[in-house]
Amino acid sequence: MNAVGKTIHTMGQQAGRRSWAEPYKIKMVEPLRTTTRAEREHAIAEAGFNTFLLRSDAVYIDLLTDSGTSAMSDRQWAGMMLGDEAYAGSANYYRLEAAIRKHYGYQHIIPTHQGRGAENLLSQCAIKPGDHVPGNMYFTTTRFHQEHAGATFHDVIVDAAHDTSSLHPFKGDIDLDKLQALIDKVGADKIPYVCMAATVNMAGGQPISMANARAVRALTARHGIKIYLDATRAVENAYFIQERESGYADTSLEAILLEFCSYSDGATMSGKKDHLVNIGGWLATNDQELFEEARNLVVVYEGLHTYGGMAGRDMEAMAIGIEESLNVDYMRSRVGQVRYLGDLLEQWDIPFVKPVGGHAIFLDARAFYPHLEQDQFPSQTLAAELYLDSGIRSMERGIVSAGRNNVTGDHHRPKLELTRLTIPRRVYTQAHMDVVAESVKACYDNRHQVTGLNMVYEPKYLRFFQARFERR
Ligand code: F0G
Repeated sequence: MNAVGKTIHTMGQQAGRRSWAEPYKIKMVEPLRTTTRAEREHAIAEAGFNTFLLRSDAVYIDLLTDSGTSAMSDRQWAGMMLGDEAYAGSANYYRLEAAIRKHYGYQHIIPTHQGRGAENLLSQCAIKPGDHVPGNMYFTTTRFHQEHAGATFHDVIVDAAHDTSSLHPFKGDIDLDKLQALIDKVGADKIPYVCMAATVNMAGGQPISMANARAVRALTARHGIKIYLDATRAVENAYFIQERESGYADTSLEAILLEFCSYSDGATMSGKKDHLVNIGGWLATNDQELFEEARNLVVVYEGLHTYGGMAGRDMEAMAIGIEESLNVDYMRSRVGQVRYLGDLLEQWDIPFVKPVGGHAIFLDARAFYPHLEQDQFPSQTLAAELYLDSGIRSMERGIVSAGRNNVTGDHHRPKLELTRLTIPRRVYTQAHMDVVAESVKACYDNRHQVTGLNMVYEPKYLRFFQARFERR
């Protein structure tokens, strides 16, 4: 047993302590491949120091994303065999629709191939050029579709979200004063909806409280402004409400999710996260008019309104995944595993976003490399260094992801310069987390030797996916 494992093992034997364990066991395994340092040097240079451009067979532990990387359950795999691959009116669609209505409470559902398909439909149906969309921090594809439809995005998240060390329990909350100030400035008729994300990915997987959602609803209702939820990780958000918000400790995740969604008019969903599937998404709305327009557009971009780009079997697996995601034992181990990794890093004073969020550890690359300017891409550098050290793949969430201002052409310069270690659901074990923590520690010990990167190729849209870099 390694040093870290020993510490945890000893802690587990402390009097009175009861450890949690994953509420599932492994039925099928996928071998992992390790590489030599020389192979990794070659691979990362070939990939232009961008972890998105690595081939996955050169990766050991893949923490690039929690999107579409979940392990499905035996029940989901069994459900795949019930795929009704009819072009129209698939039985699986109706089962999915029923599961979404039951647990999210929305009336009308439009399936899409993944989250950004739903974002495209919503943006095209709801936004007019010159509009303004406030949100609790941006997400890359979400803001892209809003801007592409002609809107200006405004970040109205609480200030604590931009402070990596603030221990605010709900760093995803919307700042009501910022929202009110925007309404006063541009006028309610220029704000088609507030985009409310739960949890907030770019802030570190931070939750938004029920009280805040309720207050945002009250404020926007006074001005006739709608709210669309980014429900991608709303079940993880519900878990944090149950754990942290007074009055909810004895409320089920199901009831919390339903109440939370009731403060919105609809939602976009990337089913690749909370729903424990590898592909799929949906748009939901209670607005009959928007529904009719979106149902018309979906056939142009996604597929018929009863499959939206998903196979019947995918919709069946998603309907089952929705039920499984609301199991509190599962969610405790999901969030618990992320927290376990955070606790290991904390012991070594490694800088990361606190408190630990739902789906990932976000290393604070500014604090890691204080000697690097933001233009030397500290988060991108750290992702490359981690890969070089151990073959672990992480993701830049800083200036590269933020892109450029549409009007001025300047870099957006986010306060947060983060490298994300994203934990896939039900995929890796505690031992993998030990290995990851030790590799982060090795990079931290070596931090003074690191010199940063130059960007040598920059795509026009969502540049972080395909940009290329060279060592400085
Ligand atoms: N909204 C949030 C909060 C997301 O995290 C994502 C995807 C999307 C929308 C878009 O959904 O990928 O299905 O089209 N996040 C992934 C990530 C890509 O790695 O964080 P999609």
